[in-house]
Amino acid sequence: MHSAKLRQQFSDQLIRWHATEGRHGLPWQGVCDPYAVWVSEIMLQQTQVATVLERYPRMIQRFPTVKHLADADIDDVLAEWSGLGYYSRARNLHACAKQIVNEFGGQFPSDPALLEQLSGIGKSTAGAIAAFAFQQRAPILDANVKRVLARLFGITEALQEKATTNRLWNLADELLPQTPKQMPVYTQALMDFGATWCTAKTPVCITKKAICPFEGTCKAKSSDQVLAIPKKVTKPKSPHFQCHVGLFLYQNQVLLQKRPAKAIWGGLWSLPESAWEELDGIKASPVLDSSSAIHLLLKVLPDWFGENAAWSMQCTVQLGTRFKHVFSHRILHIQPSVLELDQNAKREFDEALQSDKESFVWARLDALDLYGLPQPIKRLLLDWNPVRDGVVIN
Ligand code: ADE
Repeated sequence: MHSAKLRQQFSDQLIRWHATEGRHGLPWQGVCDPYAVWVSEIMLQQTQVATVLERYPRMIQRFPTVKHLADADIDDVLAEWSGLGYYSRARNLHACAKQIVNEFGGQFPSDPALLEQLSGIGKSTAGAIAAFAFQQRAPILDANVKRVLARLFGITEALQEKATTNRLWNLADELLPQTPKQMPVYTQALMDFGATWCTAKTPVCITKKAICPFEGTCKAKSSDQVLAIPKKVTKPKSPHFQCHVGLFLYQNQVLLQKRPAKAIWGGLWSLPESAWEELDGIKASPVLDSSSAIHLLLKVLPDWFGENAAWSMQCTVQLGTRFKHVFSHRILHIQPSVLELDQNAKREFDEALQSDKESFVWARLDALDLYGLPQPIKRLLLDWNPVRDGVVIN
């Protein structure tokens, strides 16, 4: 089929495909409430549909309207987001809710150009919200859609190039259905087709699990370049870092420290941690002996603890199992050390912490849900088992 014909028929074919093969009945589908659509789209940005299906109802129950979200404490929003990762989404969600309430009288705008001005809403998400909630003829262009269009139209250039991105946006715009009413189903169909059929590594035209509706028109298929499009750009290798975290325990409580707003995991509660040290290759430093562990943990805490603090002499240090956390651009090896404080040591801690009360909290281990914690730290605290993980070295 000529590409002009493909352009004409694309939306009808895709909508027809969605009727039998697309996703139906997701809780955020068929709702025209822009708040619900927006929350679901932000959650779905970097989280799998199955996880969002679990967490989205909880989120909406906790913050039923944009006003509830705008009025909430950021700590509560981060706590609700806990485990979903990419926490800037939660901070932007909160900031955007405030913008909607303060600048738009609590009503989401329907114009994608205005939506795009809001915190955490990029051009593609603005298109999705405008299409789903307001039936606007606004295109989307996430990574899946880029791949679908690049294959259909045989675009062999790297998609990161500005000129290629512009070309893809133009195509995305030209392919929209003429009828605004079709925008929600069309947009969902495009997302679903990229996510389930025209996938990066196992598209149905290669696996032969099904017959793609565009098999006869897809340029990548006819030129046998399906797996070569989009062009792969080799990512530079992620550097490896190591840090130590201290689990300072007193009875059933653990000491948490608030992270600076601008750092990684900004605004979340975490464990006191040493400066990140870049590793040469992936080899982490050897496991510490007990005196170096105490020495390092002293450095983890603010200066005012001093190296000769009496408490350190009375504590038992256990080394937990070192584990790895993969960020988008770096890999962090985290070495936990566990220090159980006695009553005297706890008193010394509390006196010292007086000077920076806002940044520290003793959190009950059975009430960690009240705190927004980075996912690997949450996992460490929930999974930590003194018998299994702790090696008594003192
Ligand atoms: N990813 C982003 N938005 C989505 C949606 N509405 N459905 C499925 N996956 C998505």
